[in-house]
Amino acid sequence: MNTFVAHPSSQTHAQNHPAAARLLGDSCFIEIQFPVSKMSVESYTERKANMGQTLTTLGKWWGRKPLVLCRAAILGVLLPATENPQRDREVFLRLMTMDDDGLFRRKSATIPAKELFKRLPPTDRARYFETASESATSVGKNRTDGAPKLRRSLTKEEKQDLQRRVFLSMSYDERIEYCDRPEHIVGPAPESWAVINSHLGTTVSSLQELVAELGKRRFGHVPRVGDSFCGGGSIPFEAARIGCDAYGSDLNPIAALLTWAAFHIVGGGQEAANRVQAAQRKVYDAVDRQFTEWGIEHRELDQKTGRRWRADVYMYCVEVVCPECQWKVPLAPSWVIGESTKVVAKLVPDHQRKQFDFEVHSNVSDESMIAAAGSGTVKHAELVCPNCRARTPIKVIRGDGRGSFSDAKNLLRPWENHDVVPRRNDVFGERLYCIRWVDTWTQADRNGNQRTYTERHYAAPSNEDLVREQKVFDLLMERFNDWQNRGYIPSRKIEPGVKTNEPIRTRGWTHWHHLFNPRQLLTIGSLFREILEANLELDAKVGALLSAGNVADWNARLCQLRTSPGNEGRTEHIFYNQALNTFYNYGTRPLLRLTDTFLREYPAEIISGNADVALCDARLISVERDIWITDPPYADAIEYAELSEFFLAWYGNAIQHLFKGWYQDAKRFLAVKGDDSNFRTAMISCYQRLAECMPQNGIQVVMFTHQSASVWADLATILWSAGLKVSAAWCIATETGPAVGEGNYVQGTVLLVLRKRSNEETVFLDEVYQDVEAEVRRQLDSMRELEDSKDPNFADTDYQLGAYAAALRVLTSKKIEEIDVSYELTRTRKKGEKSAVEELIERAVKIACDHLVPKGIDTHLWKSLTALERLYLKGLELETHGEHRTGVYQELARGFGVEEYKPLLGTSKANETRLKTASEFARKEMNDAGFGASLVRHALFAIFKTVESETPRDGITWLKTEVKDYASSRQRVIEILEFLAARRQNASLPHWHKDAEAAGLLAGALRNRQDNV
Ligand SMILES: C[S@@+](CC[C@H](N)C(=O)[O-])C[C@H]1O[C@@H](n2cnc3c(N)ncnc32)[C@H](O)[C@@H]1O
Repeated sequence: MNTFVAHPSSQTHAQNHPAAARLLGDSCFIEIQFPVSKMSVESYTERKANMGQTLTTLGKWWGRKPLVLCRAAILGVLLPATENPQRDREVFLRLMTMDDDGLFRRKSATIPAKELFKRLPPTDRARYFETASESATSVGKNRTDGAPKLRRSLTKEEKQDLQRRVFLSMSYDERIEYCDRPEHIVGPAPESWAVINSHLGTTVSSLQELVAELGKRRFGHVPRVGDSFCGGGSIPFEAARIGCDAYGSDLNPIAALLTWAAFHIVGGGQEAANRVQAAQRKVYDAVDRQFTEWGIEHRELDQKTGRRWRADVYMYCVEVVCPECQWKVPLAPSWVIGESTKVVAKLVPDHQRKQFDFEVHSNVSDESMIAAAGSGTVKHAELVCPNCRARTPIKVIRGDGRGSFSDAKNLLRPWENHDVVPRRNDVFGERLYCIRWVDTWTQADRNGNQRTYTERHYAAPSNEDLVREQKVFDLLMERFNDWQNRGYIPSRKIEPGVKTNEPIRTRGWTHWHHLFNPRQLLTIGSLFREILEANLELDAKVGALLSAGNVADWNARLCQLRTSPGNEGRTEHIFYNQALNTFYNYGTRPLLRLTDTFLREYPAEIISGNADVALCDARLISVERDIWITDPPYADAIEYAELSEFFLAWYGNAIQHLFKGWYQDAKRFLAVKGDDSNFRTAMISCYQRLAECMPQNGIQVVMFTHQSASVWADLATILWSAGLKVSAAWCIATETGPAVGEGNYVQGTVLLVLRKRSNEETVFLDEVYQDVEAEVRRQLDSMRELEDSKDPNFADTDYQLGAYAAALRVLTSKKIEEIDVSYELTRTRKKGEKSAVEELIERAVKIACDHLVPKGIDTHLWKSLTALERLYLKGLELETHGEHRTGVYQELARGFGVEEYKPLLGTSKANETRLKTASEFARKEMNDAGFGASLVRHALFAIFKTVESETPRDGITWLKTEVKDYASSRQRVIEILEFLAARRQNASLPHWHKDAEAAGLLAGALRNRQDNV
């Protein structure tokens, strides 16, 4: 079987190994195919693991790429494509442990009996499960739960066999629920290695050996893999783990530090992990002793029990003066503190001092809970005064537009370096309103065993607590100058910026340490002091520093308080999103609550390859790599440089001290960002440099995550102008959280595979389009050929992307006589003006879309349809497959070159987008031009008529009289009606059932010549 045609390869010097399958030139696996659906499930599962991801514990970096995807990209580049694509796919899946055997090896959870029972045929149920009467006898009483029970007599082997059978009968997504990730097991089993070796002609038994062998074959040595935008280090870490010679660099010192930590702390194995843990413990214990001695987190002795409670959360809120009644009002959106413990704060008016005191009540009635939730003093960004009931926008209180401070021109006082709490006359005050205490004691239980008991108590601050607050303030101020000089606490100013403006504008905070209250500064400063003063090995010091950085992320004035059951008294971390949002009330974590952030254990892995990290602008890279895999900051709106300044404020000095030659600046102005012509120029320079730093047979994979597929074409053009040519593109769903939750867009990470453009052969525009068409057809055929009807690999959007990629493969492979790509890309354009390149791509994409013929539509018919008709029929096919994201329809419309497609939509609501049915169109859109005059529209109207009159007669009359050249169009109308009629079989389209039935009736009548034609 070889209908599979690879794109023309630049070099074919790869050797065919005697025992191996015949190679397809020097193409690699990822240039020909990629298991998109399975990779999406794996990537998504890894991202969903949150803190369970291998590198995320090291510290916050935004937009980390899943390790499984990095591994797949590297192996996909190293693995050769052969003339047997099915076997290539099998080998790839085995290497990734994503085949049946690999998945079963990864299976770590037992499928419950109930699930086994549900999935087995009746004969097997009788064989493996007890009957109801047997169960009743075996448990000695009548079964009441009705839960299926496995026979007790089953052997271990029988049980295992049963697990395997049922597991293998599940879909990929279902199986993953019972599996560890590929990185958690050693790799393929010996039987898999036999298959892999026989296909590739190798004699290896580990990923590392294979990587070395494939690298030698392709490049003559162990493959050198680099990432010049390494961020948190996923790509180089994974490369090193599977045995590549890895290099990671980034412009940002925090990114470089995290990558260094990925290599040396996580990748340093158990020894490094032990060193880091010992350091963290030593530091924590020292600070704990100091705090206990100071008595700043302990309550006074309880007279009854003789014990001292310890604080486990402090709750603070902002306070403002109501401009209407001049009362001082504490702010919080709700005064509920704990939803399950039913704890609320109550504001008690002090009429004399025109302010409120706090009472904290536990276990209150449901009515009191509702009242507390409703009595929030800040709603929809307005102060709701509990005294005079007046509502005043916070903006007005801040004086936005009436002063001279910040970009909001407000009346706030800019805080000075020494300010750690608001001054008396500041617009925003701050006060402590509740403390949650933990009482811990040990006593013998009923059996005489010693047990530890804990009880939590919420209380409003007492006078003693306020004295302790003052003590914290005094202790901090005694040390403030010295600690700033020594770098234990930040001293840097916050530079205004897109994200950094918010704390400045909303609170008047001008320095990074203003984001922390005195208690937080004293705590984190004490941790830094211990770490920086201790004599520790480099990995232990960096590990502890990163933990302290984590504490800063989880213990700041920007940490929102949670109240929901199970999360009461928990604070959220600052960077739960990509911003620096300020809140009206927030939580503070005392030492007791820092164990999960500071004493966090880093996973211990072994990396076998060489691993280097550098702090470097991608434009200045000077190392040569065979493979560059990069994930550039492409129009993703993450302000890496600004956000990282938060961490640089804490350990910028330390980084410079610990790593020779490293700087401590985020270099905002060199960071690649945005999507304007400056951005394009920067990107072209970066990728020109990378192309220079790679051999002629080198390969690049550029990953990027963006909502719209249109931008990837833009990126491809940038890469084109940098001297690269596209050889494939795949889209993997990697996002979790809001990105997927909103799900209204084409979400995912696009992987563009690129080669160096060697030949500077030029072509003329008109020749290009013919080649595009041929390549698109080849691409779609080869994808369809790889499709597995039982286990689908590609979704509609993958075909679309595949077709786009094929178009770009042709466009970017040669110079086009009439177009100067670099000039077009970097020249400043007027709003809405399209460049020649964009027009070229649009036309190529249109060719690509024209080949996306829906199943059941004949190609001749397809060719005769207008763009709107195609959009309607293709859209309906998407809908049949359960696709309801607006972005997908938008993308499709763009692909077909349709600007105004909204009239075709029944609804464009997020995640519910769908087309109008025939009955919904009814008489609408029946104009003489455009869609209204089209064959599809006439067919829809005839369906509507049939539904309306409950007979096909009126529909037939309509078609005969209104469709131009009816006799010659008749066959095409029947095909359209049959396509629409096929919707009746689809359970996910209930709104189509009636119309689809009518379409079937009409088509049948026409086939039976009831139109007398
Ligand atoms: C999308 S992130 C990479 C994320 C990374 N792949 C991961 O898994 O964590 C892009 C990175 O590009 C870096 N960057 C921005 N401009 C740069 C430049 N001029 N040179 C090198 N790196 C740059 C940013 O600091 C950021 O870390």
